[in-house]
Amino acid sequence: MDRRDFLKKTAMVAAGTAIAAPVSAMISHAESAGILENETNPQPAVVKTGKPKVLLVNGSPRPDGNTFCALSEIETQLQKLGVETELLQIGQKPVRMCINCGACHQSGNPGCVFDDDLCNTIVKKMVESDALVVGTPVYYGQPNGGILSLMQRVFFSSSAYLQNKPAAAVAVCRRGGATATLQTMNMMFEMTSMPVIGSQYWNIVYGRDKGEAKLDKEGMQTMRTLASNMAWLLEKIHAAGSSAPVREKQREVTNFIR
Ligand SMILES: Cc1cc2nc3c(=O)[nH]c(=O)nc-3n(C[C@H](O)[C@H](O)[C@H](O)COP(=O)(O)O)c2cc1C
Repeated sequence: MDRRDFLKKTAMVAAGTAIAAPVSAMISHAESAGILENETNPQPAVVKTGKPKVLLVNGSPRPDGNTFCALSEIETQLQKLGVETELLQIGQKPVRMCINCGACHQSGNPGCVFDDDLCNTIVKKMVESDALVVGTPVYYGQPNGGILSLMQRVFFSSSAYLQNKPAAAVAVCRRGGATATLQTMNMMFEMTSMPVIGSQYWNIVYGRDKGEAKLDKEGMQTMRTLASNMAWLLEKIHAAGSSAPVREKQREVTNFIR
């Protein structure tokens, strides 16, 4: 099975019947985006050249806050282990929520049909990357609203392009709500066949005022261990002879009422 067939299969399974995009259109988009090459090795839908790359998204509106400290610690460790990184800040500009219009599944392209915020930039960078880390401050026991809105649109519109890429969420808080925050983020990864990366403790760092996270020695070590675990899995996934799992052709989707 060549890469084109593999993408066809995985796109069909990941998109499912409820949110099925026209597969041929997805493939032609992938071709024009350079995602597919004339290869026979059945791998996930990203061409592997050189070092693996991890995209880190900082969901905090404070680009130099505690979530940034946590993600920077991960970046440094990944780079030490030979992994390329890119850190994207969502910053303070407004972001849209998903309005469940379903137009993304008709377009044949990855990404949201609303192209006036960071959503499609994240999609494009995630398609190009081999793994994902999403950092979020804890707001009222949950990810902050901006990152949640963006990620719901990223995953709803583009999950077929993200599967098999390792992913991790990092929650940063003053005191409480981090585990619920992690669970919320992991829900998206888990139903996208993204291996979720853990650490020596849950992926949590503590701090309130900017920079305090650096004082959380255990949290910082947890970030470094997370990075090492991710680098290790990336090495295994991209080793010669490794291939992605092939899923059943027909995806079952039931809504419990019929
Ligand atoms: C609106 C809002 C809600 C918050 N809710 C929580 C919370 O539920 N639990 C908590 O421990 N900290 C909470 N915090 C504190 C932040 O999580 C904490 O300051 C964190 O370090 C901010 O990360 P940042 O510097 O990357 O933005 C809240 C902060 C804000 C602004």
